[in-house]
Amino acid sequence: MQIESGVSLKPYNTFGLPAVAQTLVRIAGDADVRKVVDHPQLGRAPKFILGGGSNIILTHDMPQLVLKVEVRGTRIVEERADAWIVEAGAGENWHDFVAWTLAHGCFGLENLAFIPGTVGAAPVQNIGAYGVELQDRFESLDAVDLVTGRSVTLRAGICEFGYRDSAFKHALAGRSVITRVRLRLPRPWQPVLGYLDLQRKIADTGIADPDAQRVFDWVCAIRRAKLPDPALLGNAGSFFKNPVVTPEQCRDIIGRDPEVVHYPLPDGTVKLAAGWMIDACGWKGKTVGQAGVYDKHSLVLVNRGAAIGSEVMTLARAIQESVYGRFGIRLETEPVVV
Ligand code: EPU
Repeated sequence: MQIESGVSLKPYNTFGLPAVAQTLVRIAGDADVRKVVDHPQLGRAPKFILGGGSNIILTHDMPQLVLKVEVRGTRIVEERADAWIVEAGAGENWHDFVAWTLAHGCFGLENLAFIPGTVGAAPVQNIGAYGVELQDRFESLDAVDLVTGRSVTLRAGICEFGYRDSAFKHALAGRSVITRVRLRLPRPWQPVLGYLDLQRKIADTGIADPDAQRVFDWVCAIRRAKLPDPALLGNAGSFFKNPVVTPEQCRDIIGRDPEVVHYPLPDGTVKLAAGWMIDACGWKGKTVGQAGVYDKHSLVLVNRGAAIGSEVMTLARAIQESVYGRFGIRLETEPVVV
């Protein structure tokens, strides 16, 4: 096990924020986690688990021991009559893994194409896009307990998936290192095409029965058109969650802002489009220092060059206040703020 000191985390977070890890250890497998747990000093140190860094906002240097998860490998675990079970190491790039499943004839992740980050981070925030969430395809994951050093396999119930949420953001935060994730892709494959942007693609191309590769290509094109590429413009995807309100709250807002974009949910509550609300408050394209609101999508904050975490959070708070002032809704941040 190599213990590195004074490591810059700037290349390891997609927002490109500066921060230095006092101590960093790379994790290539379960055994590396056990070495950390058994280590006389590192075993007791507070720890921070870093995946692809696509969903974190670093506001200061990291005194904790940073565990950078780099577990590799992809495989088809099982081809059953009713499903493919596929597996990837937590350090694999999520989008590359999605492309790999399609190349191997396993369909069902295409709606989740082009999401930045690693496989291990996908269950942490229960990634979702275009009508599919990770939890819809989840089979199980392997993790190592940071207190006992034991490897465990966790099923969906323990992971407590919610909208961009899981136990790994709460009870299991800093407690379990996810090392491998397995997904269940139901057979026969059925496309998920209900999302408005995909319906538009069907209308524009006249292709009513796209195959999985076509859906993958459409999703990539939609995301490229709307969302900034972190390689070119630092960002962490959606910066806020879409708030869920009661029907009464929604009626009240519609009374004042009839155009508010909203989606009734099966349980009777209503999800509001935070991007629309931020846009309505006039934030699109605005900047605070080097932190800005993306000019093609107001739910995404971006790094215009040399932003620091505190600037990003100043901008985020200003947006939260103006949305609260106009709509009475408190927006929750989606990435983990460290
Ligand atoms: N809108 C505006 N102005 C904007 C941005 C959006 O009016 O500046 C409106 C759009 O016109 C649309 C509505 O808001 O009517 C919703 O926008 P969009 O379809 O882009 O989806 P979203 O709700 O903003 C969510 C996820 C995305 C995911 C897309 C597609 C959250 C927090 N975000 O965004 O996930 O890709 O749906 O499923 O749920 C992420 O989590 O990082 C992420 C990118």
